[in-house]
Amino acid sequence: AAKKLFLLPGDGIGPEAMAEVKKLIAVMNKAGAGFETDEGLVGGSAYDAHGQAISEADMEKALAADAVLFGAVGGPKWDAVPYEVRPEAGLLRLRKDLELFANLRPAICYPALAASSSLKQEVIEGLDILIVRELTGGVYFGEPKQIIDLGNGQKRGIDTQVYDTFEIERIAGVAFELARTRNNHVTSMEKRNVMKSGVLWNEVVTATHKAKYSDVKLDHMLADAGGMQLVRWPKQFDVIVCDNLFGDMLSDVAAMLTGSLGMLPSASLGAPDAKTGKRKALYEPVHGSAPDIAGKGIANPIAMIASFAMCLRYSFNMVVEADRLEKAISAVLDEGYRTGDIMSEGMKQVGTAEMGDAIMAK
Ligand code: NAI
Ligand code: MG
Repeated sequence: AAKKLFLLPGDGIGPEAMAEVKKLIAVMNKAGAGFETDEGLVGGSAYDAHGQAISEADMEKALAADAVLFGAVGGPKWDAVPYEVRPEAGLLRLRKDLELFANLRPAICYPALAASSSLKQEVIEGLDILIVRELTGGVYFGEPKQIIDLGNGQKRGIDTQVYDTFEIERIAGVAFELARTRNNHVTSMEKRNVMKSGVLWNEVVTATHKAKYSDVKLDHMLADAGGMQLVRWPKQFDVIVCDNLFGDMLSDVAAMLTGSLGMLPSASLGAPDAKTGKRKALYEPVHGSAPDIAGKGIANPIAMIASFAMCLRYSFNMVVEADRLEKAISAVLDEGYRTGDIMSEGMKQVGTAEMGDAIMAK
């Protein structure tokens, strides 16, 4: 069967980075990979075309695809558009309608970049961890969520942390399954010492482990201690699983162990389809539309290309090809190719297309 990819390049450097992935897809198709691609509009470019951050027709295509490749959205041009149709609304709609509850953020330190990092080399060299963040529940969505006027000159801001058993079970399941394809070790982080949802999180992860994944090593860590350990000695981790809020913070901390925003890929996965077993999925770089460098041909395409590698791995089980692509990125960095954001002394500074071409040649 054809492998259906839906491309949403978006705004700013999104299309520039996506162009490098399109070259890769074309070359892979020549070799018989069988990708069928279609492309739509999202974010500011969609708003300019038809007044919505994503059209219904494009939403249908996203829902029908095996995987969505997303560039980036936003920019100063759309700062004043109405809230419901702001560029980010397109991404939020995709996450919601595709029910993407699991956000995967790898933190990999490429050997060639370890030496020029401002962090201790022995701490980050060879780092390869994966943070699995719950994306659709927790304090970002729990009700009540409001600001109440207390009438005495005081107000009260309320957010509510809510997790049900099924939400914890399914995110834990994703973490354990991914650990089996890696180093077979999951660390679950919560704050059971002060939060009831943390107590439940710990219980459900433990029960899920016992019922279905006892071959995987499981550790529990309080999330604040986990943050400290992530900075002190990150190589102790393989897969970290945590709720939406802790995952947001811990994945940003982990990201900065590895260098530039321009290097960081991500994946968001949904539940497996009852009939086909396939998960809905969206792959995107962590960075935004970078208006400050957009249109100059200098953006780093590695985050987008590495996101495509994740797509090959998780949506199409093309493990050999994913490994090969990731090794090509590493090899090109070894040879000294650098975009401006990761440039250091004595290296070869190149633009977006040259970096993409170098990776493709490898
Ligand atoms: P940003 O990630 O776009 O840029 C932050 C800084 O990193 C900038 O100096 C930029 O030039 C640099 N940078 C980012 N990606 C790079 C790459 N691939 N190569 C080289 N340098 C890179 O974040 P910022 O500036 O906070 O937001 C800009 C716009 O992007 C805003 O409209 C924001 O709302 C949107 N945004 C969109 C996201 C998405 O589409 N998922 C995520 C984050 C921000
Ligand atoms: Mg964040």
